[in-house]
Amino acid sequence: MAETRRLFFALKLPGEIQSQIISWRATHFPLSAGRPVAQANLHLTLAFLGDISAEKQRALSQLAGRIQQPAFNVCLNDAGQWLRSGVIWIGPRQAPRGLLQLADMLRAQAARSGSYQTPLPFHPHITLYRHAIQAVALPAPGFSWSFRSTEFALYSSNFKQGQTHYQVLEKWPLLE
Ligand code: 2AM
Repeated sequence: MAETRRLFFALKLPGEIQSQIISWRATHFPLSAGRPVAQANLHLTLAFLGDISAEKQRALSQLAGRIQQPAFNVCLNDAGQWLRSGVIWIGPRQAPRGLLQLADMLRAQAARSGSYQTPLPFHPHITLYRHAIQAVALPAPGFSWSFRSTEFALYSSNFKQGQTHYQVLEKWPLLE
């Protein structure tokens, strides 16, 4: 069988915001909240591709390279917990249109190439904890981090020695 890699398209967070979120998380959630996601792994997924072959990867990255979408601002000012998937997340209360359009396009291209896409509505988020199976008290509103997204990237997810590492394979600019 052809070798596959676990891939996804995502937005990278600026390093400074990643570190601010980590400090905020440490003071606003109990230690028992779940398994914290490593600072370098904080990202916002646009489209999850699953385990795909090199051939499918080439086809999808060629399509991604043709996308012409404007850059947009993201404001992270909402938090929530999905008990079913055990995820605690932050995200935009109001997702920018550019973000939704970009994700829609990537998800449609992925679906057309045979990568299963969940029928659940797309809810842009950054996962802060996994295995969060007990409800936790969420921080009061009032927090917010804003950044401008000027590019999107194709990532691979690698699991080694009990840890997940994400690697940027390719990236494409958004239009300014
Ligand atoms: P999550 O953070 O909400 O779990 C790499 O695994 C990225 O792809 C994560 O951001 C993860 O979202 C997302 N992801 C993993 N499996 C997925 C699936 N089956 N459907 C949609 N997104 C998935």
